[in-house]
Amino acid sequence: MNVNQGPIPGQTSDLIAGINSLRKDLNAIILAHFYQVPEIQDIADFVGDSLALSQKAAETDAEVIVFAGVHFMAETAKILNPHKQVLLPDLEAGCSLADGCPPAEFREFVSQHPGHKVVSYINCSAETKAMSDVICTSSNAVKIVDSFPVDQPILFAPDRYLGQWVKKSLNRDMVLWPGSCEVHETFNEKKLVELKVNHPDAMVAAHPECPEAVLQHADHVGSTSSILSFARESDSRQIIVVTEPGILHQMQKENPNKELIPVPGADETCNCNECPYMRLNTLEKLYQCMAQRTPEILVDSDLAAKALTPINRMLELSR
Ligand code: 13P
Ligand code: SF4
Repeated sequence: MNVNQGPIPGQTSDLIAGINSLRKDLNAIILAHFYQVPEIQDIADFVGDSLALSQKAAETDAEVIVFAGVHFMAETAKILNPHKQVLLPDLEAGCSLADGCPPAEFREFVSQHPGHKVVSYINCSAETKAMSDVICTSSNAVKIVDSFPVDQPILFAPDRYLGQWVKKSLNRDMVLWPGSCEVHETFNEKKLVELKVNHPDAMVAAHPECPEAVLQHADHVGSTSSILSFARESDSRQIIVVTEPGILHQMQKENPNKELIPVPGADETCNCNECPYMRLNTLEKLYQCMAQRTPEILVDSDLAAKALTPINRMLELSR
């Protein structure tokens, strides 16, 4: 394998050419989440939500997986592909949901609820996954929880808002770990209602990581890919979007004649509706990680084997 490790190209066009050549040399696939910056989404082999990205990681025959997303996504790809190299452009690209569920505290929480099946949102660490019976994403959480008999007690972690939405959707009780996404937590009801008043014909599409007070005003609640489908299929010419604004890039490409209205965070002096972790990845870091084949995601093999079972269960239930 002849890998170019020369100087970092300065121009965007040189970076793109460099990434394309490295992709071929490494036999790599570039997977990107919808919250990545537009130039990364445009160069990726595949752009998707968490479920589609893990399905793609499970089936790829590329030798190297370059994950333009956050750590838990790349870690899941590594667990699914223990013999492949998985690269993440910036190792600091974490997630407040994963960080808000420390394994030792989660183990204690699980032990306090004997007899409960543990359903964990994919936004968590390999350690939390290893303590779970099944993993879910926002696109299959309702289906996964509903796969258990109605009298089976369930503990859901780490997103309490997603858990609350699943509880309501299924009219079913669950014990919830008290976590939340720091980005979706910033969307507030007052701002959304103001936008609805100013755009009375607009439809509202929201991610289930938003607080319940926000979700109650939504015409559609679902994962990033389901929000994109909703925007495509809706007859409305205006869509109010209550999730990370990275999604607007694909949405505008798919709906050039619709007006997309992002909801700002509660504090308009900051860009706090943008995920600071997703935004750590840049085209330059993508190039560098491929040229230097680092940062690489590594997972202890025993831990990976334990975390793989609930991930595979999710993939089977999502077929
Ligand atoms: P999706 O699976 O809907 O893409 O969500 C991932 C995520 O991190 C949302 O904050
Ligand atoms: Fe995690 Fe929230 Fe960022 Fe998604 S938007 S990666 S849940 S911090």
